[in-house]
Amino acid sequence: MPDNAVFVIFGVTGDLAKRKLLPALYWLMDSSSLPKNFRILCTSRRDTSVDDVIKSIVHVLELQSISINYHSLEKLKEIVQIVHMDIGKASDYAILKSSLEQKDSVGSKDTCYLYYLAVPPEMFSAIVGGLESNGLASDNSHNPRLLIEKPFGYNYDSALELIGQIEKVFPEESIYRVDHYLAKETTQNIITFRFCNPIFSNIWNNRSVDSILITAAETIGVEGRANFYEKTGALRDFIQNHVIQLLALVTMEKPATTSSKDIHDAKLKLLQEIDPIRLEDVDEQTLRGQYEGYTEEISNPGSGTETYAALKLNINNDRWKNVPVLLRTGKSMAQKLTEITLVFKSDEPGNTHRNMLTIRIQPDEGIILNLLAKKPSLTDETQTVLMDFYYNQSFKNHRQPDAYERVLVDAIRGDKTLFTTDQEVLASWKIIDDILTSWKDNKDSLQLYRQGSWGPEGEDQWAQNFGTDWLIAAKQEEQIDG
Ligand SMILES: NC(=O)c1ccc[n+]([C@@H]2O[C@H](COP(=O)([O-])OP(=O)(O)OC[C@H]3O[C@@H](n4cnc5c(N)ncnc54)[C@H](OP(=O)(O)O)[C@@H]3O)[C@@H](O)[C@H]2O)c1
Repeated sequence: MPDNAVFVIFGVTGDLAKRKLLPALYWLMDSSSLPKNFRILCTSRRDTSVDDVIKSIVHVLELQSISINYHSLEKLKEIVQIVHMDIGKASDYAILKSSLEQKDSVGSKDTCYLYYLAVPPEMFSAIVGGLESNGLASDNSHNPRLLIEKPFGYNYDSALELIGQIEKVFPEESIYRVDHYLAKETTQNIITFRFCNPIFSNIWNNRSVDSILITAAETIGVEGRANFYEKTGALRDFIQNHVIQLLALVTMEKPATTSSKDIHDAKLKLLQEIDPIRLEDVDEQTLRGQYEGYTEEISNPGSGTETYAALKLNINNDRWKNVPVLLRTGKSMAQKLTEITLVFKSDEPGNTHRNMLTIRIQPDEGIILNLLAKKPSLTDETQTVLMDFYYNQSFKNHRQPDAYERVLVDAIRGDKTLFTTDQEVLASWKIIDDILTSWKDNKDSLQLYRQGSWGPEGEDQWAQNFGTDWLIAAKQEEQIDG
């Protein structure tokens, strides 16, 4: 952790800054996790004040019924400053520069500068250009770091172009691509769970695992973000980043060490072993849906944007060959839920019971294994029972930090483990690029589904192609039963 750092937020009036970044900074102040000398510069083209920033933090904490530590809030207020500037105007970066170079306890020769781009991706190049032309990007003494949010491009080619543009100014080691799913406690625990509990290493392969299912479901719809969502859709919004990253963590080989580089190498190797879905296989290996009422909600009757996407992948390596991997995500679904399920093979033909291990990313974070047990009775009747670990029971007195707290702390201390690399981003786009091409301007395969359901009714039939329809049905039953 450096002693001196300045954190610059571009887009402080936006949804991400208000809901996530500013509350995370409050919590870090409250837990004394910020550098000794720290300042937060909030750039804004609006007439925003420090009081507005603090009020927005209070608002979010109150919505979560959190009892606020006003002492911490006051300490935070003391280090927040507003920089009025137009981020699209290169000359305005001189205003930012003079605020950064302000002579106070924070401003020293080795003060680390962090720039968080909480703005639409269209603004990325203007900001990077403004920083560069004012000497704020290449100033090695301040170790400048750039934090950017997904989407990292819209397909393989645009991602390659964006990466090229940004890397002309910031070297890859100074770029922190945020995928906040990686910073969730439950996601971080995947590595610990897999590699620190030796009983699982012998069964974590295609000799024992029958199939893998990753679900990332939301109950909310597009909620006023129609412009963003129409350009994005479910495949880009969730599968290309969060879900494929979860898959990489759960299926990669053991990294040589726990260093950031070795973990990234292991993830990249796995991503490159996934067979990209080819144009001619899109119909068979994917399913897409749109919730009823979506087109009215966004006032675009002709919209072909998918709010649900599912795909079946093959991992082409010795460990996972012939294990179908199903990924699915959707909005306006029955339940908010992100989980990874490994289904284990049965040792006897005809035995319909399958052991399933579920890593629950959110909510009710934990790990659940189902087992068959004899029912206490005078017969041999059996029943499925659960062996489970839930964070809220095992770590009762531990507050689970929000993913954005971890994102900010890691960026400040220069640990890139939980961020995605340029090569990982490109490898993920490569897997789904042909699907994007096939779905573009073609609505034929779009299936409507009821809001509050588990997606298109055709999901069962689609999953039958890979012998996994029973798994989808079993999961739905489990969720309905709670
Ligand atoms: N919201 C989320 O939960 C979420 C999750 C993951 C990733 N992201 C990504 O995070 C980024 C920000 O998302 P968001 O939802 O916070 O967006 P948003 O609510 O639309 O906010 C965008 C921010 O950018 C500023 N801005 C836009 N155009 C500008 C311009 N020409 N000049 C100066 N400021 C400008 C806005 O300032 P004004 O108030 O002055 O317009 C606002 O502060 C996006 O890249 C998004 O994809 C967001």
